[in-house]
Amino acid sequence: MKVRKSSHVDGLRDAASWVVRHPFSLATQTLRQIISAKLQWQSGTFRTLGVTSCLPGEGKTIVAANLGHLIASTGKKVLLVDGGVHNRDLSKALAPDVDSGLVDVIGGRSTRVESVSVNYKTNLHFLPLGKPRSDALNNTWRNPMESLLKDACDTYDWVIIDLPPMDPLADVRDAASIIDAFLVVVEWGHTPAAIVEEALARSGVVKGKLLGTVLNRIDASKIRTYDRSAYLRGNGNHIDTEDV
Ligand SMILES: Nc1ncnc2c1ncn2[C@@H]1O[C@H](COP(=O)(O)OP(=O)(O)OP(=O)(O)O)[C@@H](O)[C@H]1O
Ligand SMILES: [Mg+2]
Repeated sequence: MKVRKSSHVDGLRDAASWVVRHPFSLATQTLRQIISAKLQWQSGTFRTLGVTSCLPGEGKTIVAANLGHLIASTGKKVLLVDGGVHNRDLSKALAPDVDSGLVDVIGGRSTRVESVSVNYKTNLHFLPLGKPRSDALNNTWRNPMESLLKDACDTYDWVIIDLPPMDPLADVRDAASIIDAFLVVVEWGHTPAAIVEEALARSGVVKGKLLGTVLNRIDASKIRTYDRSAYLRGNGNHIDTEDV
């Protein structure tokens, strides 16, 4: 996918639903593998999927949003949650005029149903972050969030949470106990394998709940010169996305 050169948020808004406009692209086809990976999940099935990375800016938000649109467009009920508690990028891109969101729901100032907006094209439901307060940043992954996710799982087939990077923040480790499975986005050609391994080793339970890694921004012209199977090895859950 080629993101229009404009502001960061405009670029994200444009790229967040790229798969809908390019249903036959390599990126779209490879994101579909995540849907099949769910069927082979170790403990039967899961509802909540956290999307994280080792370093900032590797493409978590784009992958989470496109995955949400893709699955919602198949008729499944999908809730996309902006859990990037230190960065409201997804909310700024998808719901710029909405003030309340996740932090208001867990703070008891709003309800999930009141705060969710629905994309009229794909029927993706989106819960923005809301306006974070300093107390919310430290407590996001405590009990009210667990109840919110449990409650959302009664309504939705998939709850996809756009998270911060694994390091240096504690959020993902805190979130790991209440999220069923994780995708780790790795920027192709940018993040060394050693960093990925180290971040996963330090991540606590994230590693044990890893659905797979998504290689983002692959250069399709270069990847053809490699043994493609090298990128689809291991547990079979390495998923490539071409430059969007
Ligand atoms: N496959 C891609 N092709 C082109 N541009 C991309 C791609 N993936 C991400 N980008 C661009 O890179 C920037 C970072 O992407 P994104 O916001 O998804 O990363 P992130 O991991 O969520 O960042 P953060 O850690 O700040 O939350 C955005 O401007 C986005 O448009
Ligand atoms: Mg992000």
